[in-house]
Formats: sequence, structure tokens, C-alpha cells
Amino acid sequence: MKIGVIGVGYVGLTLACLAEFGNNVLFVGRSADKINNLKKGILPVYEKGLSEIVKRNLEAQRIDATTDYEKMKETEIIFICVGTPSAEGGAIDLSQIKTVSERLGILLKNTGEHKTIVVKSTVVPGTTKDVVIPILEKYSGKKVGGDFSVCMNPEFLREGDGVYDFLHPDKVVIGGYDEKSSYKVIKLYSFYDSKIPRIVTNLNTAEMVKYAQNAALATRISFINEIANICEKFEVDAYEVSHAIGLDSRIGSKFLNAGPGFGGSCFPKDVKALVSIAKTFDVNSILLDAVLTVNKTQPHRMVGIAKSTLGSLNGKKIAVLGLAFKADTDDIREASSIPIINSLLKENAIIKVYDPQAMENSKKIFGKSVGYCTSKEDCIKDADLCMIITEWDEFRKLDLSAIKCPIIDGRRVLDPIKAEQYGLVYKGIGWKNN
Ligand code: UDX
Repeated sequence: MKIGVIGVGYVGLTLACLAEFGNNVLFVGRSADKINNLKKGILPVYEKGLSEIVKRNLEAQRIDATTDYEKMKETEIIFICVGTPSAEGGAIDLSQIKTVSERLGILLKNTGEHKTIVVKSTVVPGTTKDVVIPILEKYSGKKVGGDFSVCMNPEFLREGDGVYDFLHPDKVVIGGYDEKSSYKVIKLYSFYDSKIPRIVTNLNTAEMVKYAQNAALATRISFINEIANICEKFEVDAYEVSHAIGLDSRIGSKFLNAGPGFGGSCFPKDVKALVSIAKTFDVNSILLDAVLTVNKTQPHRMVGIAKSTLGSLNGKKIAVLGLAFKADTDDIREASSIPIINSLLKENAIIKVYDPQAMENSKKIFGKSVGYCTSKEDCIKDADLCMIITEWDEFRKLDLSAIKCPIIDGRRVLDPIKAEQYGLVYKGIGWKNN
């Protein structure tokens, strides 16, 4: 099939995988620089294995990229993958979705062929039906259903594991305006094993599934973080509790790691958007509000443990290992490292930082207020205290014999028994020794 993809962020680019199954994929973006680079196989984001897929399919002439919307006339299915960032008050900013819908409406007006428009961007329930379709109809002068098709097909990709998640989904969710709309997209995904469940539903449900899923995962994290905060008061280890409750098949073991809270471009934004849309319709989202409140306070628990370990932090040298919101990414959006470092700076601590990938992005946030190190060893040297905020593999290999200061570990990357053998003060959120 001939596929058009609007937006070359990590969601759009992951659709390059469709070319692996013989489809032709045409990427459309606003930035000429990004598009020219993409044509050379240089991607604006890092996703494990993706640049190899793009290069392979560029060579096979199954992938192309352009800034010219007109070229999309040659495609049958067009995916909208533009950003929907947080706007004021937590609602999502739909400006890019609206602009793209206008341009697609004009494209539909000037073509005789029946096209399927698929919204893949994360949008709150009601957006495809009440915002995208009316704009498409207005600018095309045509009718959805008869003249063109519309679907909503949410993505569940983890940053960094996007290619794996695309190729091995737990499910495929396809919300269609009507049966005809869904049919084309079901056919496109026929390369997936037949055992992978297909949820074929309506537009609003597909949008809601995405939000409900991210809200459920975020809730689990805030839940275990709250349990961890209580555990400490009873000298109970929250990690042991997580392990035990995770063995109950009704609960399961994933996303039960206590720590300094969730970050990234999805969970905080999506939960806030759900709360905001609920408020618009006078639904009181008590639980989701609490999920956000726990997540806001959690980074400061790290600072609290540092204070209870060192007393005053005034003038103390603190080594911060890990700035990215999770391992294997350079992304620091909403990372818990940001409130932690800001809070440490308020206490007049002297901060040195190190992250294997996120140094450049961090410089844009922290500027000259912290010192930047080229290695974990350089960062820890002479520190009064070390904080581990991201679960990078290389931190698991820290030479404990060379460390003289206490370690506060937000992700339990080290073995507590080994740390004790080296005589280290080793603490974290929800541990029994705080
Ligand atoms: C998430 C969803 O997993 C994905 O399905 C969706 O499409 C996009 O949002 P991502 O943001 O890439 O993916 O990261 P994820 O691995 O889910 O982690 C999110 C945050 O939760 C990280 O800050 C991580 O450190 C934190 N987390 C995760 C915990 O604090 N504890 C856990 O047990 C798991």
C-alpha cells in the first residue's frame, strides 16, 4: 500500500517499519532540514534499530520524504502523527492537528480518489469526531464515509523501544468512523500474527483506550510510590513488597518500581489532559488528581533523604548520576532529575551531573548552575553524596570500592547487600534503612 505519514517525531518515524512489509511510506514534514536529513537516513530522534530500517528502505526506494503536501495525493492511507503538547492548564494543544486537518481537507478537495485519514497522534476523546472530521469536511467540501474514510489508531510505543513495540504489539486498536474506514487499516496491519488481538471500535473509544492505558500505568507508579513512603515508616522494604504483590496474577509485576516518580513526554501530559477534559465535562477526577500530586512530591523525597543523611546541604558537593527520564534515551522532558536538582540548588548544594546520553539536553535546562562531567567516576570524585536518578546500565557497574560517600539511589540499580559489604551508606525511596 502507499502510505503517507505527517510528522517525523518518534511516532511518525516508527511507521517506517511498514516499509519492511512491502509498503511504500512517504514522510511529510515542515522542516526542510529534517526532511533532507531523513532522505539521507539521518533521523531527528534516536530509536533503537530505526535508522537501519529507514536506510534499508530508502535504498529499496520504499521510503521517501518531502515538505510538499501535494505529493500525498499519491498515497492511499495518511497517518497524522504531529505533536499534541500540553497547553495552559494541562489541556492538549491541538493547533498542529487543526493545521494538518485543514491541509488534508484541501488535498481531499483536489483529488478524486478515496483516501483514508488515520489519526495516530494522542488526542483526547472526541477530537477525531468533533474536531478533525468537521475540518476535513469543511476544507474538502466532501462527506466523511462516502467520499473519504477516517480512523483513530493509537500507538503504545515506549520511547527507545518503539521499533520492538511496533513489531510486537500486545494489541492493535482501530477506531473507525464506519466499517469501510476500519477495513483499510485492518488490511494494512494484516502482517501481524493473527494471535495479536485487534480491537475494532469507534473513534472515541480508540482515543479513550490510549488515555486510560497511560493513566492506569501512571496510577500504578504513584500507588507504589505512596506505598513506599508508608513502608519506610515501618522499616519495610517497598521493593520486597512490590515483588510479593506482583506475584499475584491479578496484579502482575510490571510498573511497580518505587522511585522519584514518572516523567517523559507521555504520562505527565496524558494524565493532565485527561484530568482537564474530565473537568470540562464536570467530572471530578479525584484519583487522577492524586496520581499527579504524588508524582509531584515524589522527587522531593530524594532531597528529604539527602537532608536526613547529611543534615544541611548548604555547600555540600552532590554528584547526580542520571538526568534522562528513563534509561536508553537522551530525553529529559518532565524528568524527575529537574525538580530534584532545582531543589538541591535551593538548598545551596554544589551540583555535578553526569548522564550517558542526556548531557546536551540538560545544558539547555540547567545552564551554568551545575557542573557537567564526562564520566560517572569524574562526577563522584570528591562528592559528599551521590544520587542516582536514572537506571542506566552503566551505573550498575559502579566500582563500589572507589566510592567514599553515601549513595541515595532512586532506582535501586546497585545490590544493597554488596553496598553494605563495602561499608557504604546506601539508601532509597521506600527502603527500610531511611
Ligand atoms: C509510555 C508508555 O509506556 C507507552 O506505552 C506510551 O506509548 C508512551 O508512554 P515512555 O514514556 O517511553 O512510554 O516510558 P515508560 O517506560 O513507560 O516510563 C515512563 C516513566 O515511568 C519513566 O520516568 C519511568 O522511570 C517511570 N517508571 C516506570 C517508574 O517510575 N516505575 C516503574 O515501575 C516504571
